[in-house]
Amino acid sequence: MRLVVPLQGVVQGRGGLILGSLIPCALYYFLQIYLKRRRPSNSSSNPPTPSNSSSNLVELQGSSSRSNLTSRASKGAVQLSSRGAFFAKPSDSPYYVGLEKVANDQYDRLKNPDGIIQLGLSENRLCFDLIEKWVSKNVTNSILGIDGGNLNISGIASYQPFDGLIHLKLAMANFMSRVVMGGSVSVDPSQIVLTSGATPAVEILSFCLADQGNAFLIPTPYYPGFDRDVKWRPGVELLPVHCHSADNFALNITALDQEFTRAKKRGLKVRGVLISNPANPVGNLLPRETICSILDFAQEKNIHVISDEIFAGSVYGSEEFVSVAEIIEAEDYDKNRVHIIYGLSKDLSLPGFRVGVIYSHNEKVLAAAKKLTRFSSISAPTQQLIIPMLQDTKFVDEYIETSKRRIEHMYDLFVAGMNQLGIKCAKSSAGFYCWADMSRLIPSDSEKGELELFEKLLNVAKINVTPGSACHCIKPGWFRCCFTTLTEEDIPIVLERIRRVAETSES
Ligand SMILES: Cc1ncc(COP(=O)(O)O)c(C=O)c1O
Ligand SMILES: *[C@@H]1O[C@H](CO)[C@@H](O)[C@H](O)[C@H]1NC(C)=O
Ligand SMILES: *[C@@H]1O[C@H](CO)[C@@H](O)[C@H](O)[C@H]1NC(C)=O
Ligand SMILES: *[C@@H]1O[C@H](CO)[C@@H](O)[C@H](O)[C@H]1NC(C)=O
Ligand SMILES: *[C@@H]1O[C@H](CO)[C@@H](O)[C@H](O)[C@H]1NC(C)=O
Ligand SMILES: *[C@@H]1O[C@H](CO)[C@@H](O)[C@H](O)[C@H]1NC(C)=O
Ligand SMILES: *[C@@H]1O[C@H](CO)[C@@H](O)[C@H](O)[C@H]1NC(C)=O
Repeated sequence: MRLVVPLQGVVQGRGGLILGSLIPCALYYFLQIYLKRRRPSNSSSNPPTPSNSSSNLVELQGSSSRSNLTSRASKGAVQLSSRGAFFAKPSDSPYYVGLEKVANDQYDRLKNPDGIIQLGLSENRLCFDLIEKWVSKNVTNSILGIDGGNLNISGIASYQPFDGLIHLKLAMANFMSRVVMGGSVSVDPSQIVLTSGATPAVEILSFCLADQGNAFLIPTPYYPGFDRDVKWRPGVELLPVHCHSADNFALNITALDQEFTRAKKRGLKVRGVLISNPANPVGNLLPRETICSILDFAQEKNIHVISDEIFAGSVYGSEEFVSVAEIIEAEDYDKNRVHIIYGLSKDLSLPGFRVGVIYSHNEKVLAAAKKLTRFSSISAPTQQLIIPMLQDTKFVDEYIETSKRRIEHMYDLFVAGMNQLGIKCAKSSAGFYCWADMSRLIPSDSEKGELELFEKLLNVAKINVTPGSACHCIKPGWFRCCFTTLTEEDIPIVLERIRRVAETSES
């Protein structure tokens, strides 16, 4: 930092061209000589942890002259940082393998009936008709002004606050209190930081609450994306707290406590608990008492609670969703340690719009997060379109109501079909998934056996599902099947494909 900041001043001032290029060039030259001796060794399984040592800088071939570059480039190919090189390698995780296969051979009832059916991407296409109708009617007025006549160009073309337009924060706060949290909580717009999707919201919170090498406790099975969001750049560890099928994967506070103690013995600093409620992948809800126990636990250990409530508006069935926001508002808990993640990718089926939310009572966290949104702000035209959409309470209510009904209908059809095949599914009250127990079909009771079935489903049955190991499920043979990308007519086809594999796999 100390190097860079004064240089910016020089570069921007008069004579900046000379000083601004000579000084950095010279510094880089010496830095490279120094670094040559301390290049880090490879790591294969985890991305190299970020650090503030300079060993991660990209190696530059520092020549700006027009002479023959090839003749000077005798030191071999230009290199990436070790972390850049790690990400440049193709991924062998089944999650990405599956997605890539689908991209090259996607099922289409008419054009590609033998293609792969997608059950591995967490998307809800059941209500695209409603979104399409609203957007086609209102897009012009929202972004270009009434009938395109009074376009306010500065409102969309100039820099806007990176943590979100105040009008969107107001609309979001209102939407969250009214729809997502069922009117039980009054969300304060000044405690909202908007991000381009929930992904950067998780990353920013990880960065702000834990240092590199610290850890969060996380109940399993968990959303596979958390490994990316928490580990990749913030360098924070995730410590699984295993939940079991016997009690529908409910969180056991004793196990949480034991994992905390074990981490401490290993010299790890646990900074928080990361939960998803409603849970991805299982679709179960945290009971009020469990949320209270988590808050008690966090208070006792003096750590944070991050609650990812991105599916809160996609709850169906009779069970009631309780937000952690409701509990800290009603009871005497320290609000400063509680942070909520939300977004419009799931409940409003707008993952392409990239709208995410950090909702926190902690002023310092908000201040830090606001600065970090410079890397992940929502584009102004998107915000201008979302504001009237969220304000349109008639549309929003109808949408949420219809969406819940359609998800439940698909869930019932899918699970009934799976049951007929002898495959049991976890009890779900929310979200887009059937969390299915196919342990009977795996060739061996291990992760290897699970991945063999995954490959068979992908390559023979031609359906892409998410294996439980990607969600860190401790018991092999569970699979996450996202049914909201399907149409009703697709369900019998999916089931028939699973049936054929089941027949030849039964153990
Ligand atoms: C629990 C959970 N959190 C976060 C995300 C990421 O959402 P976004 O697409 O808005 O980044 C997802 C998406 O699947 C999710 O399921
Ligand atoms: C680094 O990776 C390369 C290529 O994967 C391998 O050949 C080499 O042995 C590795 N070096 C170390 C120190 O692990
Ligand atoms: C980063 O720099 C700070 C201040 O110099 C130091 O205290 C800290 O240990 C460093 N962290 C790493 C990961 O090198
Ligand atoms: C650059 O140098 C290489 C090796 O000396 C030579 O083969 C090549 O022809 C040169 N290219 C130009 C454009 O001078
Ligand atoms: C145009 O947008 C800017 C920035 O959002 C706002 O300050 C200004 O009041 C708007 N002008 C009109 C005429 O609405
Ligand atoms: C919770 O975990 C503890 C310790 O692992 C175990 O003894 C206990 O039986 C578990 N409780 C339930 C309800 O599963
Ligand atoms: C969206 O368009 C419809 C039909 O033109 C209109 O009735 C409604 O008021 C518009 N909504 C908003 C928020 O502009």
